[in-house]
Amino acid sequence: MNKLLLGDNLEVLKTLESENVDLIYLDPPFFSNRNYEIIWGDAGEIRSFQDQWSGGIEYYIAWLKERVEEMYRVLKSTGSIFLHCDWHANAEIKVFILNRIFGEQNFKGEIVWQRHNAHNDAKKKLAVLKDTIWYYSKSKTITYHPVYSAYEQKYIQEAYKHKDEKGQYRLDNLANPSRMNPQGLYDYKGYKPPVNGWRCALTTLQKWDEEGLIHFPKNPAGRLAFKRYLDENKGNLCGDIWADIPNVQAHAKERIGYPTQKPEALLERIIKMASNQHEVVLDPFVGSGTTVVVAERLQRHWIGIDQSEQAVRVSRMRLQQQREELLREVPDFTARTLL
Ligand SMILES: C[S@@+](CC[C@H](N)C(=O)[O-])C[C@H]1O[C@@H](n2cnc3c(N)ncnc32)[C@H](O)[C@@H]1O
Repeated sequence: MNKLLLGDNLEVLKTLESENVDLIYLDPPFFSNRNYEIIWGDAGEIRSFQDQWSGGIEYYIAWLKERVEEMYRVLKSTGSIFLHCDWHANAEIKVFILNRIFGEQNFKGEIVWQRHNAHNDAKKKLAVLKDTIWYYSKSKTITYHPVYSAYEQKYIQEAYKHKDEKGQYRLDNLANPSRMNPQGLYDYKGYKPPVNGWRCALTTLQKWDEEGLIHFPKNPAGRLAFKRYLDENKGNLCGDIWADIPNVQAHAKERIGYPTQKPEALLERIIKMASNQHEVVLDPFVGSGTTVVVAERLQRHWIGIDQSEQAVRVSRMRLQQQREELLREVPDFTARTLL
C-alpha cells in the first residue's frame, strides 16, 4: 500500500490483487485530439502514445475498456469508481464501457464539474464550461457520505450578522411554524410568545438559554431566536452539479504548471464522499499526484500508477512536500500516515 507504480496501467493493474481497492478515480486522456496530447513528453509517454488514437473513437474506447475491466476486478464489491472525462467521449464511455462492465443498475451519478466561467469567446459560440465525472459502484452496498459546499461570502455576510464570544451566528426562528401550540404560549424573561406559541417547551428553552444558545433582542418587544453558529454549519449539501470548485488557479500553491492537473478540492470531495479512513484509493492515471496527495492527507491508503517517469517524480515530490508541511503543523503526522 501507499505505492507509486511506474508503467502502463494495464500491465500494472494485472499485478494487483482482486477486490482490494475501495475507491478508484481515473482521469485518462480525454480523446480530445486524434493524436494524444503529450503532457510530460518523456520517453515512456511518447512511446506509448504516438498514433494511439489514429484508429478513431473505437480504438480509444477499446483501449480504455480493457483497463476499466482490470479496475473492476481490483475493486472491492463495496467499492466505487469515478471516471473523469468530457464531451469528446463521455457518451461512448458511459454506454460502451461503464454500463457494460458495471451495469446500468450500478450507475450512481453524473457529476458535472463546472471548471470554467464563460469568457468573451462565449459571445460567438456556446462555451463548454464543464467536465463529466461518471460515478458507478460495483454493487448496491456502498460507502456514501454526504458532502457540502462552503457558503458564499455574500450569504455569510447577510445571514450571519451577529457575533458573541463563541463566534458568528445567524438567527433561527423559535416560533411554532404551523398550528397554534398552546404549551408554547408562555412569556420568557419578559419576552412575549409569537402568535402560534414557541416551538419548544419551557424546559427546553431554559436549557438552551443556559447553554447560551438564545438570542435576546435589545428591544423587549422583539422576538427571541435560536443562535446557529457558522462554524457548526457544514454548508450547502452537494448534489451532482459542482460549480464551486475552480480549476487550478494561476497562482495556486498546489499548481505544478501542466494543463491537466486537477484541483485538490475536487479529489477531496470525491474521496470524502465515497471512502472511509484507512481504506484504499487507486488512481491508475495519477499524473502529478493530486489523488494520492489528497488521499494521504485524508488518511487513506493509496496506489498511484503512471507510465511517465516525470509524472511519478512530480507525484513523489508533492507527497514529500506535503509530509514536511504536515510534520511541521502536526508533529504526530508520521505516526498517523503509517496508519
Ligand atoms: C490527464 S493526466 C492525469 C492528471 C491528474 N489527474 C492530475 O491531477 O495530475 C493523465 C495521466 O495519465 C498518464 N497515462 C496515460 N496513459 C497511461 C497508461 N496507459 N498507463 C499509465 N499512465 C498513463 C499520463 O502520463 C498522464 O500523466
